[in-house]
Amino acid sequence: MALLCVVVPTLNEAQNVEPLIARLEKTLTGIEWELIFVDDDSPDGTAGLVRRISLEKPHVRVVQRLGRRGLSSACIEGMMACSAPYLAVMDGDLQHDERILPRMLEKLRNENLDVVVGSRNIEGGSLGALAGPRRLLSNFGRFLSSLVCRCEIQDPMSGFFVVDRQFLDISARRMSATGFKILVDLISSSPRPVRLGEVPFRFGKRAHGESKLESTVLVDYLFLIVDKLVGDFIPLRFVLFVCAGLGGTLLHLGILGALYQGRGMEFVVAQAIATLAAMTLNFLLNNWLTFRDRRIRGWSTITGLLSFYAACSIGALSNLALAQFLFSRDIPWYLAGVLGLVVGSVWNFSVTSVFIWRHRRRNHRLSPAAVQPAVAESNQPRSQEADGPEV
Ligand code: GDD
Ligand code: MN
Repeated sequence: MALLCVVVPTLNEAQNVEPLIARLEKTLTGIEWELIFVDDDSPDGTAGLVRRISLEKPHVRVVQRLGRRGLSSACIEGMMACSAPYLAVMDGDLQHDERILPRMLEKLRNENLDVVVGSRNIEGGSLGALAGPRRLLSNFGRFLSSLVCRCEIQDPMSGFFVVDRQFLDISARRMSATGFKILVDLISSSPRPVRLGEVPFRFGKRAHGESKLESTVLVDYLFLIVDKLVGDFIPLRFVLFVCAGLGGTLLHLGILGALYQGRGMEFVVAQAIATLAAMTLNFLLNNWLTFRDRRIRGWSTITGLLSFYAACSIGALSNLALAQFLFSRDIPWYLAGVLGLVVGSVWNFSVTSVFIWRHRRRNHRLSPAAVQPAVAESNQPRSQEADGPEV
């Protein structure tokens, strides 16, 4: 049985798979180990490639997730899919120096620790050639993590660590599993103080392919922190829905006030225009925040918006009917407007979360490279410095 299971989340890392396996084989001699790639159905065929390799190397396997996304949740599912008493998580793009894995494992076992982090921020480690703003962002992330982590850790932003299965078991169910920063999630989910160690390494250059870091990673991270701070009391999606609703309400009142009071437009017409504008803003905010994990992108955004209007039309009609009824009963215009909006919004949320932001089946097309995956050379020179994005 494997002592150590290495879990590697992948999204379009086909070119890095073979070099990574070769490096791990070289460094983990003398340790019983296995390797799980958790792939989110990469168009470049990463999962198929790993499957072909695992026919010959049974200690290598893949968990292929369909219609799913997310680095943290991928790592968690990989860790839960094996039985090894020790688990390592590392990136699949060769930026993490696998040569420190034996030392991390040894430290974990010898010092009876819960987690040992591959750290770029202690002596001997390095963030590599990260640009100034990135370092600032990384430090900001570090500061935020201190709000929820309650322990001394120099590199909470690292995605490279070894963890004891027993510790994972007591923390896993409390994890948020959102976004990129799984280590912060893991540590802040512990029900007791974490016994933590760090081993330095130099963050390398991405060997092939592109970083998946995008602007939403920062947003995801902020949500993780908020979820850790208030999530035990209020579900995060509800908090986000209310925030998007507040944005829509402000716009609604602004437009209603301007058209009805400012321009003397008929109340019900002004309310209809304000509702349309608020619905559009609500759609955009909910698409970007509330349902960002199921976000509709590209041209589908237009059809999504149109379906959103259609799905919301019943909500809008009841909104209008109620608002006009209240208004005709001498309820002040702003109160009538808001009450109409509240009833409409509750309807909208229920209907759209089922019909608009549902998990979609999609036609999966492999890229040409996936059909004939390039056999990457396994002994490329290791570069020392990073240039990839990093928070
Ligand atoms: N399954 C899955 N799903 N894997 C993903 C996803 C996803 O949605 N997004 C990214 N990955 C995989 C990538 O394929 C890669 O193996 C790894 O996660 C890291 O992604 P990068 O796109 O290379 O991110 P980075 O280099 O900016 O940041 C990473 O390295 C940092 C330094 O240790 C992240 O892992 C950070 O969390 C980490 O701190
Ligand atoms: Mn990377």
